[in-house]
Amino acid sequence: MKDTIKILAIETSCDETAAAVVEFDVKSMMIKPLSSVVFSQIDIHKKFGGVFPELASREHIKKIEPVVTEALASALVESRKYKVESKNSHLLPSTLNLLLSGIDAVAVTVGPGLIGSLIVGVEFARGLAMTLNKPMIPINHLEGHVYSCFPHQSLVANHQSRQPAFPLLALVVSGGHTMLVLMRDHLNYEIIGTTLDDAAGECFDKIARMLGLPYPGGPALSRLAEKGDTKAFSFPRSMLNSGDFNFSFSGLKTAVFYKLRDLGLVDEKAEPIKSVQETSENTPITNHQSLITKAGVAASAQRAIVDVLVKKTFAAAEKYKVKSILVGGGVSANKLLRDTFSSVIASTHDNNQEVKQSHPEIYLSPLDLTGDNALSIAIAACYRYQNGDTSSWKNLDANASQKLITNHK
Ligand code: KG4
Ligand code: ZN
Repeated sequence: MKDTIKILAIETSCDETAAAVVEFDVKSMMIKPLSSVVFSQIDIHKKFGGVFPELASREHIKKIEPVVTEALASALVESRKYKVESKNSHLLPSTLNLLLSGIDAVAVTVGPGLIGSLIVGVEFARGLAMTLNKPMIPINHLEGHVYSCFPHQSLVANHQSRQPAFPLLALVVSGGHTMLVLMRDHLNYEIIGTTLDDAAGECFDKIARMLGLPYPGGPALSRLAEKGDTKAFSFPRSMLNSGDFNFSFSGLKTAVFYKLRDLGLVDEKAEPIKSVQETSENTPITNHQSLITKAGVAASAQRAIVDVLVKKTFAAAEKYKVKSILVGGGVSANKLLRDTFSSVIASTHDNNQEVKQSHPEIYLSPLDLTGDNALSIAIAACYRYQNGDTSSWKNLDANASQKLITNHK
């Protein structure tokens, strides 16, 4: 086995076409990101208010080659300071060969996700692995969100960083998933809690839609919430004291719907109603009131989601006596969520020196790795590679409902 290898990773599980290259020192476990390219389809899906699966896979087909080529070209520049004339698509085959020649393994997200989207990434990766005669590394999308929280070289001064200690608890919060995962070791997953209905990101998106905000709703709702009062409305914190670590967000969504309907801000189908005042330029005061009300709804709903996520995570952390807490997935970009996790730790530290010793360390996913990207997939792939979890291009398939797979050594 070579001491240092290069892994190309591809991610196309939903509406981001992404590729990344990392250099991995197998002995020291040092991971050096060489490139990460993400093409987001948000502008394409915006007009539908959500991801339109058929369009997503078509767009992946258009973008996969230019995105992979750009990731390879940037990686070559980074690793050899080699001058590449164009980072754009459709390079000459000889240039592409040169770029690919340094790749030792091809990692790809195999699931969960939209099947038409996953297939594009998996088949493109399969073609490359077959041509290069290199192993493939199948990665679970949620595993990518978990491993985005493990510090890698570019984040670390002097190449030294504390890695999360085991056992650890990972909160994965995205548009499709909300789960608490207990990890006693690398690649060893026990799902101790999951959502019984909507995912946290889905709840953000649906409430944002009722408030007339653009897709994806999470970031837009969070911006509106900054102008609102978190105590303006009292919304439920479902399953906060359920005694287990499962979540439920559909009750909150319904409570927000009833409130907005009573306020005359949505119709019976939960579609936002543009009031006469809002459409008129001559009623700035009423406009202002409507904005304050909506901002209050956004702030109160966001607070309710964050309260449940943070409290349940800490309750589980205490029960399982974990040493670290990881927070990853699209929703982990949320400022209130990040600030709340950090401040709970800070306040405990201030008040109790003894607890300070035993309190878990928090590892929030770096902001640029919270959403879907291939660098997170590449980081997970390094651990899989080290564990011998590679696969031939012949034995690998996309799986829309793939579960987190625990490693049994
Ligand atoms: O991980 P991700 O990019 O895709 C999935 O795997 O689902 O997560 C997307 C989700 C969306 O629901 C989006 O609204 C949410 O993450 N999100 C946020 C924020 N940024 C993205 N939710 C709340 N606050 C944010 N700042
Ligand atoms: Zn995701």
